[in-house]
Amino acid sequence: MHVLITGGRGFLGARLARRLREAGHRVTLFDTHQAQARADVSGMETVTGDICDFHAVLDAVDAASPDVIVHAAAIVGGVLSMEQPAATVHVNVAGTVHVLEAMRLRGVPRAFMISSEECYGSFGYEPADEAHPLVPATPYGITKVAAEWYTGYYRRRFGVEMVNVRTSWVYGAGMPRLRFETKLILDALTTGVALSETGADHRIDYTHVDDFVDGLLRLIEAPRLDHQAYNISSGRAVRLGDLAELIAANIPGARIEVGNGLLEFAPGFPAPVKGALSIERARREVGYQPRISLEEGMRRYVDDLRRASSVVS
Ligand SMILES: NC(=O)c1ccc[n+]([C@@H]2O[C@H](COP(=O)([O-])OP(=O)(O)OC[C@H]3O[C@@H](n4cnc5c(N)ncnc54)[C@H](O)[C@@H]3O)[C@@H](O)[C@H]2O)c1
Repeated sequence: MHVLITGGRGFLGARLARRLREAGHRVTLFDTHQAQARADVSGMETVTGDICDFHAVLDAVDAASPDVIVHAAAIVGGVLSMEQPAATVHVNVAGTVHVLEAMRLRGVPRAFMISSEECYGSFGYEPADEAHPLVPATPYGITKVAAEWYTGYYRRRFGVEMVNVRTSWVYGAGMPRLRFETKLILDALTTGVALSETGADHRIDYTHVDDFVDGLLRLIEAPRLDHQAYNISSGRAVRLGDLAELIAANIPGARIEVGNGLLEFAPGFPAPVKGALSIERARREVGYQPRISLEEGMRRYVDDLRRASSVVS
């Protein structure tokens, strides 16, 4: 199978590319010229372009003639989307429409968009399954829901198949953002002290990148899929206060403290209340089963960051 990955040099795109190659598939990466590869993609075919430029997307599809597209290019995360609300719409919504249009014009049979639990906003129940109402709380979540609605429109109107793969907080080597856990670990490794004023009571479904990639690969290789949306996560939520203790256990001597309460995306603006996602649909249809415990995954992640920051602790 030949897979074109938009955002292919990014954290999830590059890791998926490597797994696809190991599984014997051909891969072409599409990303901007500024993108730094978040995993080893040496030797892979790469097309440079901007997802906001429709002709660049169409040229990439023409050059690769892919059997499958994985659409991972995006401006990622609630905080970044609040800093760049209009750019987030251009990249996440118009970019997705460009991929859908190219699929329609060139007859690409199937695609997968990496979507997010942010589509659900604050969880109304738990575990949140794919039927949970879509009530996004941030510009990022709003763009992901809008992009998903475009996939629905293109499917109904033109028979274009882009499946939405909703995931949670994916972590592991190469994570490009200073998210809660990454900041705690780096602060603890570099200064011996990591403090967060709030967040201990927030609960997050953390998914190790290798598990996410495994789930996505299973969906890609499935001969047929019965649904348009799949949650791929660990299926379990951890309190961030407990996560901090787990991290501290891997950094002897470090002082890590997280204040009570929920996380805030900005002062006075709480992050949506989360929890576990239901992964039953993916488990049932493609046999997805996360394998890396949070304890093991965080131990590996601390080791990765320790090596990357060359800190001996
Ligand atoms: N990592 C997570 O925890 C997580 C959780 C839920 C959903 N997602 C989704 O997964 C996908 C990949 O995220 P990631 O964590 O790998 O982030 P990332 O930032 O590492 O990857 C995004 C990639 O998109 C590229 N990109 C951005 N703007 C572009 C443009 N205008 N044209 C072409 N390429 C562009 C970037 O250069 C980057 O390589 C995104 O769609 C994101 O919304 C990620």
